[in-house]
Amino acid sequence: MRHQQQLPWKRVWVTGAGRGIGAALATKLCWAGVDVLASARSANELEALQASLAGAPGKLQIEPLDISQPEQIRSCFQRWQYAGTLPDLAVLNAGTHDPFPVEAFKSQRCQALLNVNLYGTLNCLEPLLARYLEQQRGHIAVMASVAGYRGLPTAAAYGAGKAALINLCESLYLDLAGSGVTIQVINPGFVRTPLTDKNDFAMPALMEPEDAARAIIEGLQRKRFEISFPGKFVIWLKLLRVLPYSWYFKAVKKITRSNP
Ligand SMILES: NC(=O)c1ccc[n+]([C@@H]2O[C@H](COP(=O)([O-])OP(=O)(O)OC[C@H]3O[C@@H](n4cnc5c(N)ncnc54)[C@H](OP(=O)(O)O)[C@@H]3O)[C@@H](O)[C@H]2O)c1
Repeated sequence: MRHQQQLPWKRVWVTGAGRGIGAALATKLCWAGVDVLASARSANELEALQASLAGAPGKLQIEPLDISQPEQIRSCFQRWQYAGTLPDLAVLNAGTHDPFPVEAFKSQRCQALLNVNLYGTLNCLEPLLARYLEQQRGHIAVMASVAGYRGLPTAAAYGAGKAALINLCESLYLDLAGSGVTIQVINPGFVRTPLTDKNDFAMPALMEPEDAARAIIEGLQRKRFEISFPGKFVIWLKLLRVLPYSWYFKAVKKITRSNP
């Protein structure tokens, strides 16, 4: 997207902006003239992204941090507050995946994943909510997944974390009514990124990260609670969601068995 598209945000914080969906989103925002605070642990990936956006009208500011470390987020917020560069929109996208068969089930492995996907997101939400509630204005979008709709094979910890995020956002949506603060949940299907490159099965309706970023920006502007894509795939998953357990388990076994 190299044309100027008028977007309603001045500065957007994107976590997990070093690669994949976050990098595609940060790129689109910068080319649309929006400044981006780009976070991830790997400073080198953020630097490469910054270099690729040298000619963009929006400025990409590198903010390396680990979302599982609350003090790193707090110090970032203090700096932004002091400099007057707090974001008016935060896309809490950072996350990871660690698929494993049930024979490899380890509590610690699940906790490591939840520490990023669930607790890391909570760490980001705390200062955002405090600040946005105080100023009675602000916009937050939390990256969950269609994998949070119902249980899927080899995704016990990933799905549980994403289901928790969806429920958390539903709850916050109700609590934030009338506060001036908007919260949305993003539920993508499969997107081709380093995260899904580890999947050893055929991924139906696989999207490119640029298309996912476009769908996210459209959804953020529309402000409906859930941003989900791609459309037809999501409709199928929502139908599966309302099936009784016996039908649901049969359907999922059949679908996943038919994959290579
Ligand atoms: N790809 C899909 O099909 C898909 C579908 C549904 C939902 N999602 C969700 O979308 C989000 C992005 O996924 P992706 O596919 O773009 O993954 P990705 O390509 O692996 O990128 C993940 C990003 O998150 C950052 N990150 C990971 N752990 C972090 C931590 N502790 N602190 C700060 N940043 C961290 C990574 O950078 P560092 O490792 O350098 O920190 C990287 O920039 C995730 O929440 C994922 O669950 C993805």
